[in-house]
Amino acid sequence: MIFESHAHYDDQQFDSDRGELLSSMEQHGVGRIVNVGSDFAACKRTLELTRQYPFLYGAVGIHPSDIEDLNEDVYDWLKETAADSKIAAIGEIGLDYYWEKDPKVQSKQRYWFCRQMELAREASLPVIIHSRDAAEDTLKLVQGIHGEDIPGVVHCFSYSPELAQEYVKMGYYIGIGGVVTFKNAKKLKETAMQVPLERILLETDCPYLSPEPNRGKRNSSLNLPYVVKEIAALRGISEEEVRNATCENAFRLFSKVK
Ligand code: NI
Repeated sequence: MIFESHAHYDDQQFDSDRGELLSSMEQHGVGRIVNVGSDFAACKRTLELTRQYPFLYGAVGIHPSDIEDLNEDVYDWLKETAADSKIAAIGEIGLDYYWEKDPKVQSKQRYWFCRQMELAREASLPVIIHSRDAAEDTLKLVQGIHGEDIPGVVHCFSYSPELAQEYVKMGYYIGIGGVVTFKNAKKLKETAMQVPLERILLETDCPYLSPEPNRGKRNSSLNLPYVVKEIAALRGISEEEVRNATCENAFRLFSKVK
């Protein structure tokens, strides 16, 4: 089976057919899904989705581009919700300097990233890290708060294969999705070849980042076989091996997922 480690089915792009789509997952071999929060409203919708679908688990956390949603009340809500039996991770949290150039707001991102990492530590939950154009600060911050004690995944990994190895050394997983099928994704293809198979997670980040041959269209977990196929071809192993290993990896990391 396929374990989808990063989806956003709460997104309004799924409003017209969410029920139908999610109900078809298991028959298409997608056996588990982690739906990941971004802003506060998405975290609440994620929790609702976990109530409707037994195979769907949630992550709660505030995305760096949405930290204006964060205050101590929301932080307390995250803390309480982290104890829910269907909440398997804190995320997505991190740094995004691609969309945010103001150094003052970037410093706020670092503050809330740190706080949410600590929340994960207290709740004994893994983290789902979003990091864009912030390679150096993300690594410094994770190392600085002893990230090796807080398991996690760097989702939609977009940096160098060398940096991927730094995270692997700390026990982190590398999230790989549709981008690996793009012709120009040279660095990510190298990463997918070089990191140990037991450190790779499959993800879509849907509705975004559809793989070839569906690039540009709305993405869903039903496209994951294209990602599996590409990773298998790059590593010279079977697709079954990729499905099995990434599934085991996800169960290991998200230990609350049954
Ligand atoms: Ni995402």
